[in-house]
Amino acid sequence: MNPGDQSDQRPDAARNLSGDDLTQAVLASFDQSASPRFRQLAQGLVRHLHAFVRETGLTEEEWAAGIDFLMRVGHITTEQRQEFILLSDVLGVSMQVIGVNHPATGATGAATESTVFGPFFVQDSPPYACGDDLANGAPGEPCYLAGQIRSTSGAPVAGARIEVWQADEDGHYDVQYADLPAARGRGHLFADVDGGYHFWSVLPSAYPIPDDGPVGELLAAARRSSMRPAHIHFMVSATGFQTLVTHVFAEGDRYLDSDAVFGVKSSLIAPFTRHEPGLAPDGKRLDRPYYTMRYDFILAPAAS
Ligand code: BEZ
Ligand code: FE
Repeated sequence: MNPGDQSDQRPDAARNLSGDDLTQAVLASFDQSASPRFRQLAQGLVRHLHAFVRETGLTEEEWAAGIDFLMRVGHITTEQRQEFILLSDVLGVSMQVIGVNHPATGATGAATESTVFGPFFVQDSPPYACGDDLANGAPGEPCYLAGQIRSTSGAPVAGARIEVWQADEDGHYDVQYADLPAARGRGHLFADVDGGYHFWSVLPSAYPIPDDGPVGELLAAARRSSMRPAHIHFMVSATGFQTLVTHVFAEGDRYLDSDAVFGVKSSLIAPFTRHEPGLAPDGKRLDRPYYTMRYDFILAPAAS
């Protein structure tokens, strides 16, 4: 008998299906899946999709509109325009996945909390040394960022790789400009022997997530804001530790309690402190006002 051949069952078992019988038949069609995990995911998806259709009394026009919406999400998606990530973000699915995989323990000294990856990460960002200026010409007020990478036991994580990406004062990432010759407000550096890091960049601004596509239509239909509070993205990785994907949010930002993608966690909010022109913590003299922000990242041990 071929896999999936149901000829040994009741001759009419696969006919005249509707409602719960239909759901049960589709669920059973995954029973012989090669991978138990695939079976679990496929059956869970079917169960929830069928329940959604029946609970809402979905009309044929609405189902067609939904398919058209997904088709347009697909058509606009490219390496640079990640509309599917955006959809997952505005539906809160990204944060649910993070919650399942990185539950906060709330314990003192616990690992730094994670938040959304977002669509603006770029592989192979430029390398910098501690103390360099990652802004690389991005418009904005100078900001000095520093801190330490530690393990949950308090030990410094020397040599941890720190990826940084952020929006400029106009709320734009470098990848949102046409034809920039080089990365701006983006790069990676490595923690020193004491786990310390420090670098210059610019003060980040609040910004709207890309809302000129189907996800923007969805937000407009829901009368939702597309704004995110000002933040800087960090991805911190080191051998023997779970990779941390997170942001540091600017204390006092007006959008902290209405983030379009539900990504704010209190533990990730830090002051970006304004200073008059003068000597910065690294000894650099600034002839214009500048900001400082300090944040320590705590890495969880890799799952064994
Ligand atoms: C971001 O922070 O870069 C981002 C996150 C989710 C959606 C859009 C942008
Ligand atoms: Fe961002």
